[in-house]
Amino acid sequence: MEKFIIQGGNRLEGSVRISGAKNSVVAILPAVLLSDGVCRIENVPNISDVSVTLKILYELGAKVRMINQSTFEIDPTGINSYIISKEMSSRMRASSYFIGAMLGRFRKARVAPPGGCDFGVRPIDQHIKGFQALGARVIIDNGMVDARALKLVGSPIYLDMASVGATINIMLAAAKAEGLTVIENAAKEPHIVDLANFLNSMGADIMGAGTDIIKIRGVSKLCGVNYSIIPDQIEAGTYMAAVCATGGNVLIDNVIPKHLESITAKLVQIGAEIEEYDESLRIIMNTNPKACNVKTMYHPGFPTDMQPQITALLSLGEGTSIVTESVWANRFKYTDQLTFMGADISVEGRTAVVKGVQKLVGAPVAATDLRAGAALIIAGLAAEGTTEIENIEYIDRGYEDVVEKITALGGNIKRVNIPEPSMFKEAL
Ligand code: EPU
Repeated sequence: MEKFIIQGGNRLEGSVRISGAKNSVVAILPAVLLSDGVCRIENVPNISDVSVTLKILYELGAKVRMINQSTFEIDPTGINSYIISKEMSSRMRASSYFIGAMLGRFRKARVAPPGGCDFGVRPIDQHIKGFQALGARVIIDNGMVDARALKLVGSPIYLDMASVGATINIMLAAAKAEGLTVIENAAKEPHIVDLANFLNSMGADIMGAGTDIIKIRGVSKLCGVNYSIIPDQIEAGTYMAAVCATGGNVLIDNVIPKHLESITAKLVQIGAEIEEYDESLRIIMNTNPKACNVKTMYHPGFPTDMQPQITALLSLGEGTSIVTESVWANRFKYTDQLTFMGADISVEGRTAVVKGVQKLVGAPVAATDLRAGAALIIAGLAAEGTTEIENIEYIDRGYEDVVEKITALGGNIKRVNIPEPSMFKEAL
């Protein structure tokens, strides 16, 4: 079993280069399936969600070639299967994107329900509603989502909530449908725009991505392209929150500052100085963090995927902060772990009351999901003493080279391999 061991107390200084966005790449890799040629994807982060997605593409029959650490060439022309087993699908949420992509390519898809982080119920009813509006019959058969259509025909689709996953899946299925699809109340996150840019570079006709209304005029053919994934807004925000918790002065390189506006605004309120440049920003924190209220919202609001990290930071804030989660029903499970480190957080439904404490103290804790893991790293870096974090496979799903990047900034974090109890037995 692997763990992170962190000795807290060091200020973070230097520069960190942000990797490609997880939530873009996990949509763009399945989208390659729609292409009639080879796609070269650059700025691909080395995270386990990418390994799983590439493995799925390979198992479906794609040729996957690694050009360098962050560039992959994928030839989807040999793909002949439209089935993804439970074993693969349950490893990540974004496996559901293969339903839209395979429907678009084969007019059929059979995919076990997706896994991913557990924030309570994670339905896909809006995805299914979209596929049905395009003319697919969707049933749950033997534990698999089975979607089939003789043909897909564009249609207006109103989403009950601005779901990222449903917007992406409908774009994938509609890109090669006949006629016009209009998604109303579409998600507006940067990864939606990135996927639309990718599909358009392949020859799709998609307008309005980044607004509430996306119009997709189906085309008959999409071709292979070279494309570079946008930088990861949440990875950048995580390092920014870490600097605020430890104090320091760090250049966050390879970012799109516009994507970070809601995060930057909150961190400035908490006490950070932030200078923005074209593709980087500098964050300086020389004071104790101040309390502030945060409410997560769909983009361009404060992202839910930064909620645990900012809560960890606010646990050290001067005063009381109210953090309200409006996207997920149950995304505060991790706060128990922060209280083991001395945080004073009480949760009532979708609201956490965070009373700032003067210090956190290192403790053994466990990540309950990906961003919860990031929050524990931030807490550990700011705490007095040693923090041991278990369940770090969650963190590996979304953060490339986290140990190397933090170490380069002067943080003290190590990945250690602790043998399982049964392995001790064998050694005796
Ligand atoms: N929802 C439904 N029905 C649906 C789809 C969503 O009720 O058919 C509800 C969900 O239960 C949730 C809300 O709508 O309450 C938003 O869900 P959304 O579909 O937007 O989320 P998602 O596509 O499953 C993506 C990210 C998450 C991120 C959310 C919100 C990926 C692979 N995942 O999930 O990222 O929290 O959007 O921005 O893009 C993460 O990176 O840590 C992560 C969890």
